[in-house]
Amino acid sequence: MIVCDCLHKTFGTVTAVDGVSMEIKDGTFLGLLGPNGAGKTTLMRMMTGLLSPDTGTILFDGQPMDRNAVAVKQAIGVTSQHINLDKELTVEENMEFAGRLYRMGKADIAASTDRLLSFLGLESVRRRVSQSLSGGMKRKLMIAKALIHDPRYLFLDEPTVGIDPNARRDIWDFLRMQHKEGKTILLTTHYIEEAQHLCDDVMLIDGGKIFREDTPEGLIAEIGPFKVEYEGEDERMKSEFFGSLPEAKARAASLDVPCSVLPSTLEDVFFHHTSKGVGGWK
Ligand SMILES: Nc1ncnc2c1ncn2[C@@H]1O[C@H](COP(=O)(O)OP(=O)(O)OP(=O)(O)O)[C@@H](O)[C@H]1O
Ligand SMILES: [Mg+2]
Repeated sequence: MIVCDCLHKTFGTVTAVDGVSMEIKDGTFLGLLGPNGAGKTTLMRMMTGLLSPDTGTILFDGQPMDRNAVAVKQAIGVTSQHINLDKELTVEENMEFAGRLYRMGKADIAASTDRLLSFLGLESVRRRVSQSLSGGMKRKLMIAKALIHDPRYLFLDEPTVGIDPNARRDIWDFLRMQHKEGKTILLTTHYIEEAQHLCDDVMLIDGGKIFREDTPEGLIAEIGPFKVEYEGEDERMKSEFFGSLPEAKARAASLDVPCSVLPSTLEDVFFHHTSKGVGGWK
């Protein structure tokens, strides 16, 4: 279990993380959603020991995470928001380099590399230098590297940014498999559909503060599981939310403009809080 208590981080006059406390139970697939600059990457960098909090503590199974926490770091895998592969190295050399950092033996590195490259469809490019890979392949390789040492905890900062829908689905399938095998996963994403698809728990963050946490279904139930969508007089799409299908249908019948009755999504939750300005979103 991961326990964060009252984490704060400022950069000069900017407060990036402002008093975050949370518990992540083993086996959870947690999504961290929030607008640009909300503090997601800073929070993740502190949790993975890449950045020290100004105040607050982070415990993995009771062990503190800090820059020198070797045993704790051994239990985690991380992919950063920006691609950070060794460009001149081949795919398999990147894997070998990552394995060596965790002091793995040659045979273990080879076995883990074969398994991960095969699962992620990178077998055919294993001897290509990583700078010649497509964007989707690079993202897959970053995930493979993060898992070389079979960590218990996986931290993914926007792992599918800028890749095509097929490659994204491949990554989703792979992550779902990792989750089923028992890994605890923390994911940030701007693809809200991705969080709805994968995560069993979602945290909404803005201004460095977590202001909602629930299952995707719980967050959707809070705004209303059905919506009526129609074009308003200002030519902008309007959504109204309802607690039941009959209520949504009754509202649709009362409108004299074309409209649709649809199930609400996590994206609606995001926009709902945005338009209400909850958590400071504008
Ligand atoms: N090294 C740094 N030096 C100065 N300011 C920083 C640094 N890292 C982050 N910040 C600031 O902290 C705030 C939070 O940034 P962070 O990268 O954590 O946001 P984010 O939620 O990951 O955003 P995005 O969705 O754009 O990746 C921003 O205002 C950012 O400019
Ligand atoms: Mg970020």
